[in-house]
Amino acid sequence: MYVSHLSLHDFRSYPTVEVPLEAGVTAFVGRNGQGKTNLVEAIDYLSRLQSHRVASDAPLVRAGADQAVVRAAVVRDGRTATLEVEINAGRANKARINRSPLPRTRDLVGLVRTVVFSPEDLTLVKGDPSDRRRFLDDLMILRAPRLAGVRSDYDRVLKQRNSLLKTAGLARGSAREGALATLAVWDDHLATIGAEILAQRLSLVEALRPYVGKAYETVARGASRDDAEITYRSVVEPVVEPVETTTPTQESLREAILAELARRQKDELDRGISLVGPHRDDLLLFLGHGAGAERLPVKGYASHGESWSFALALRLAAYDLLRADGDDPILILDDVFAELDSQRRVQLAELVADAEQVLVTAAVPEDVPEALAGARYHVTAGEVTRGE
Ligand SMILES: Nc1ncnc2c1ncn2[C@@H]1O[C@H](COP(=O)(O)OP(=O)(O)O)[C@@H](O)[C@H]1O
Ligand SMILES: [Mg+2]
Repeated sequence: MYVSHLSLHDFRSYPTVEVPLEAGVTAFVGRNGQGKTNLVEAIDYLSRLQSHRVASDAPLVRAGADQAVVRAAVVRDGRTATLEVEINAGRANKARINRSPLPRTRDLVGLVRTVVFSPEDLTLVKGDPSDRRRFLDDLMILRAPRLAGVRSDYDRVLKQRNSLLKTAGLARGSAREGALATLAVWDDHLATIGAEILAQRLSLVEALRPYVGKAYETVARGASRDDAEITYRSVVEPVVEPVETTTPTQESLREAILAELARRQKDELDRGISLVGPHRDDLLLFLGHGAGAERLPVKGYASHGESWSFALALRLAAYDLLRADGDDPILILDDVFAELDSQRRVQLAELVADAEQVLVTAAVPEDVPEALAGARYHVTAGEVTRGE
C-alpha cells in the first residue's frame, strides 16, 4: 500500500497543507523544527490512531485550533480509498472512509499500516519494559485491529482494579470484606482479558523471533542469525518458560494469572496496585557473539552500536512480519540516518529500498543515502515544496 495524497488541517504546526505523494521513496528535507516529522507523524497516526511521539492527542491539534484533520488517499491493490480522522481537543475523535463516517473511530485502525524508525527507537533497547510492551502491542494491533479494543478494555479494568485495591487496602472489618468480594470480580476480568493479551503477545514473539535474528545478521557486520534472541518474560513465569514447546492455551494462562493474583494479594493490597498481569511483563533481548558463546542481556551489556543494531533489527523484523502477512506496510524513516554510522546507513538503505513506499526525513540532503533516490520535498516553516 501507499499514500498518494496527504492533506492536513490544523495538525501540529500546519494550518493547512496538501502533499501529493507517490509509491517508492520520498524524502522530506529541511532544518530542524520546520515540520518534517509532523508530516510523517500524521500518516503514522492514521494507522494506529496514536502518535509515535506523544501519548495524548492534545499536542497534535495546532495551538489555538480546536480540531485537527488528517486525510490521506491510500492506494491498495490499485484501488484508492480516502481515510480521514478528525482529532478533537477534549471530545471524541471521528473517522471517515470515502467521506462516510465510521460508527466507531477505532474501526480505522490497521487500514493503513506503518512501521516507523526514529531516533527514539534506542529506548526499545535501553528504555523501560513499557517501551517494549508498546512495541509488541502496537504490532499485534496492526496485525489484528480488534485487539485495540481488548487492550483498551484491559487498561480500563486495570484502572478500576487499582482504585479498588487502594480502597480495600485501607478498609477494615465488614467494609474490607465487601471490598474483597468486589475484588474477586475484578480479578476475574483481569485474568480473562489479560490472558487474551498474553496469548497474543506470546504467539507474536514466536512469529517475530526468526525475523529478529535474520534482521540482526543483516544490520550488524559479522553477526550471525543466532546472535540476537528475544524472549517474552511474564510475571506468571512458570507457564511461559522458553523451554515450553507448545504455546500455552488462553485458559491455562487465565488460570495461571488467577493463581498468581491469589498468591500476591497481600502485596497488592499493601501497595494499592496490580502486580500481576501483562502490564508487568517485558520482552527480553539477548545478544551472543558467534556459535557457542554465552548470550548476554542487551541492556547493560551491549555497546552503543550493538544497541542500535538491535533496535533496528526489531523494527525491520516488524516490517518483515507485516509484509509476510501479505501487504507492504508504509516505511517511515524519521531522522534516523543522522544517528547511524556509515555502514549501518548503507545497510538499512539497501534493505528498505524496494519497499512499496518509503518516507524519509532528514535535516540535510547528504543524510539521505544514495540507495534511496526518489522524490524530494523541501520543508521550510511549514511550506512543503517539490524539489529536484
Ligand atoms: N500543536 C502544535 N501547534 C503548533 N505548533 C506545533 C504543534 N506541535 C508542534 N509544533 C511545532 O512544530 C515544529 C516541529 O515540527 P517537526 O515536524 O517536529 O520538525 P522537524 O522538521 O524537525 O521534524 C516545532 O516548531 C513545534 O513548535
Ligand atoms: Mg523531526
